[in-house]
Amino acid sequence: MKHAPAPPLAAQTVFGDRLPLAMRYAEHLATTGVQHGLLGPREVPRLWPRHLLNCALLADLIAPDTHVADLGSGAGLPGIAIAVRRADLHVVLIEPLLRRAQWLRTVVADLGLEQVQVRRARADELTLDLAVPVVVARAVAPLDRLAAWALPLLIPGGELLAIKGATAAEEVERTRRAVLAAGAVSTQIHTLGVGLMPDPVTVVRLRTPPARFPGAPGQRSVTR
Ligand SMILES: C[S@@+](CC[C@H](N)C(=O)[O-])C[C@H]1O[C@@H](n2cnc3c(N)ncnc32)[C@H](O)[C@@H]1O
Repeated sequence: MKHAPAPPLAAQTVFGDRLPLAMRYAEHLATTGVQHGLLGPREVPRLWPRHLLNCALLADLIAPDTHVADLGSGAGLPGIAIAVRRADLHVVLIEPLLRRAQWLRTVVADLGLEQVQVRRARADELTLDLAVPVVVARAVAPLDRLAAWALPLLIPGGELLAIKGATAAEEVERTRRAVLAAGAVSTQIHTLGVGLMPDPVTVVRLRTPPARFPGAPGQRSVTR
């Protein structure tokens, strides 16, 4: 069983005094994460730039004390990475596969991440049960399908932050009609980690319309 590689300098910049916690998570990914098939063995050497740092940078786009749902969390990416970086975020990891959900619960408990919950469910099973201001996702589905799953989990004025590859702009164009039909009112593309990472991170941000009446029930930022 391989161990996690040593963190690069950028990891100190991104995780600060929470770097030891990030290293402990990296060790879970490189060992039992690979054993359980959550991460390919070839990913271990590039664990930091491609997975931990790439995902943790997403927290730059999230306001303090926000409730966040990570849709299709898999090995906890990006949800655990942002919770490790930011203790103020309340994160729900949504993962339908039993073995993955069990692994996530073990890792969350071992890391002592009390602000993180695991929900074993598909996104569409949670539409009446979850209402958060931010949904995050990586490598789960094309943008149109992802929007149809994620936007019903958002409060009015909420946003989906989807980590996408270098072809994000093309995907946004190709899926524009379906994304609007799913309820998005604005689409932006952000680039994170320039000057810090060999490959900066491209994030697509979709917003839902704000509540018509301030104080309407949908305004609450809670997980139910
Ligand atoms: C390719 S993995 C990506 C995992 C992780 N986000 C990452 O970037 O490493 C996709 C994950 O989405 C989950 N998934 C697939 N369909 C889903 C759905 N309808 N709702 C929630 N999760 C789903 C799968 O079980 C799987 O763990």
